[in-house]
Amino acid sequence: MDHTIVLLPGDGIGPEVTDAVVHVLERAGAPFVYTTRLAGQAAVDAGKGDTLPEETLQAIREHRLALKGPCTTPIGKGFSSVNVGLRKRLNLYAAVRPVRSLPGVSTRFDGVDLVVVRENTEGLYAGIENEIVDGVIVSMKVATRAACHRIAHWAFRYANQKRRAKVSLFHKANIMKMSDGLLLEEARKVHAIDYSNIAYEELIIDAAHMKLVQDPSRFDIILCENLYGDIVSDLCAGLVGGLGVCPGANFGDDAAVFEAVHGSAPDIAGKKLANPLALLMSAVMLLRHVSDSRADARCAVAAERIEAAYGKALVDGATTRDLGGTLGTFEFADAVVQRL
Ligand code: NAI
Repeated sequence: MDHTIVLLPGDGIGPEVTDAVVHVLERAGAPFVYTTRLAGQAAVDAGKGDTLPEETLQAIREHRLALKGPCTTPIGKGFSSVNVGLRKRLNLYAAVRPVRSLPGVSTRFDGVDLVVVRENTEGLYAGIENEIVDGVIVSMKVATRAACHRIAHWAFRYANQKRRAKVSLFHKANIMKMSDGLLLEEARKVHAIDYSNIAYEELIIDAAHMKLVQDPSRFDIILCENLYGDIVSDLCAGLVGGLGVCPGANFGDDAAVFEAVHGSAPDIAGKKLANPLALLMSAVMLLRHVSDSRADARCAVAAERIEAAYGKALVDGATTRDLGGTLGTFEFADAVVQRL
């Protein structure tokens, strides 16, 4: 039986890259059927009356798997983030973002192979803000022991499953002694009790960033609270070729939503210039997740085929403009399909 995937094309470049990725998945024999739902500005424009319609959430709860394009969030005003809402309402508490050097993509560093694991539901990123008196805004950073424990446990378990050697926790507990301190406390416990086979270190986030841009190869799994994880993910993207090549996934206990690290890129939206590779790599993560969790070998085969094909395309110099090439979104997808 084929697996139903909820497609959320999203806003900006989202629909373009989603179409290109579905084309590759179909040609690679991914055993998927798709059901499309709206989220973000696209849902408002279609008259759904909400950026995150209940029917969209319901479809993901039912099918448990989604492939999502980026959703625009207005800056400084307007509706709150659809991405934050989706992660909170479906309790997608662990964001995982693998960052790897790719063949044929030349950057300052070779051999980068790290994974950012980000707590996805709490912290300042939750956007809980109030004007307590005129001209005084309070932005609340929430950390709960349960969520800190859950993400620490998830990161170490993931490290173990993927045979990773080290977890580095980036924090600012010298200043935010209580909130960041709670994550340190829980990570230390999880490490000592369940995962002492994995190396563990703690780095204050400002110095950690300096080390990251000097020698990214010293890092393996980077564990962060929500806002730090958001920032460090884009920095890491810059180490391996930019936002066009960084995939991601959001995991909860009941559902998983796969999406690229990048946003809706309004500057190039509608021009068919966006690199669909980050979403394609997210789709490969989805295939591997289904292969592992539902024991479907067809998914593993499709993942291998797609990975080999885009690797060949990159080595052949068949790339989009963000990587120095000349191909458009669909031309790159065709270049991958030709190499399947
Ligand atoms: P962005 O990631 O959309 O764009 C940053 C830069 O990277 C732009 O120059 C863009 O053209 C380029 N870029 C991004 N993806 C690319 C791709 N696939 N191929 C080629 N170039 C690419 O970040 P920005 O401008 O900060 O945010 C734009 C909107 O996206 C905002 O409304 C933001 O809230 C939203 N956003 C949504 C995310 C999500 O849905 N998960 C994640 C990040 C941002």
